[in-house]
Amino acid sequence: MEMPVLECAVHWARPADDPRMRDLLDDGERARYARFMRAEDKARFVTGRFLARTVLAEATGRAPRDLRFTTGCPLCGDSHGKPRLPGSGLDFSLSHSGDRVLLVLVEGAEVGADVEQEGDRDIDRLSRMVLTPAESEALKAMTDRKRGFHAYWSRKEALLKATGHGLAAPMTAIHVTAPDEPPEVIAWEGEAAVSPVRLADLDAGPGYAASAAVLTDRPLRLAEVPFRC
Ligand SMILES: CC(C)(COP(=O)(O)OP(=O)(O)OC[C@H]1O[C@@H](n2cnc3c(N)ncnc32)[C@H](O)[C@@H]1OP(=O)(O)O)[C@@H](O)C(=O)NCCC(=O)NCCS
Repeated sequence: MEMPVLECAVHWARPADDPRMRDLLDDGERARYARFMRAEDKARFVTGRFLARTVLAEATGRAPRDLRFTTGCPLCGDSHGKPRLPGSGLDFSLSHSGDRVLLVLVEGAEVGADVEQEGDRDIDRLSRMVLTPAESEALKAMTDRKRGFHAYWSRKEALLKATGHGLAAPMTAIHVTAPDEPPEVIAWEGEAAVSPVRLADLDAGPGYAASAAVLTDRPLRLAEVPFRC
């Protein structure tokens, strides 16, 4: 029997530090907002939380201001973990980089999302922390190594954001297909490893890599939703 597809709602926004967006933040979010030093970090944070509040309000029929996200870290209990909306049956993942803010929403499965601006990073140094030896070899042969490296990175970070480990778990334990192949996990070892998982590459435009990962065996269907603000 064919497996039913799982819908992933993909929302994109541009960072903007708008007072109407700030107005929806709760006390904890306001305190975090105040701690960011750089204007661009403030804008990315506000836009992400505004996007989460408006999208989840629409999905649950509740008021954006009434939503209470939990952010408990499974490793230490502090409040810097994956934001969740308990009791909703929904899971979401936020990511921001450069001029992009991304939210992916899924019902009934854990989701992770990541967008990365292709910056001028030291790819050789970072590869040792991100890629398996086989992936490093594959990257060496690529004509656009910057694009290839960020594609690998965004797929792996999306996976680790789906489980909630984030960068507390090693990316080198995950082996994924090459960037120009359909995104799949080839092997994953270690404590954070889960199966089954599905991966999808997202289109964030030139100069960006973006991916979503869902802890499911169902095929994914991406639905891009235009941002209304
Ligand atoms: C999650 C993490 C990978 C995000 O890294 P990043 O590339 O800087 O940022 P992104 O823009 O892609 O994602 C940030 C968003 O991910 C979400 N997030 C935070 N922690 C998360 C986690 N553990 N899992 C999934 N999502 C997480 C938040 O929504 C956050 O944005 P917000 O705070 O503005 O709402 C990184 O913060 C991390 O590794 N955190 C966990 C580290 C950790 O657990 N250390 C051990 C503690 S005991």
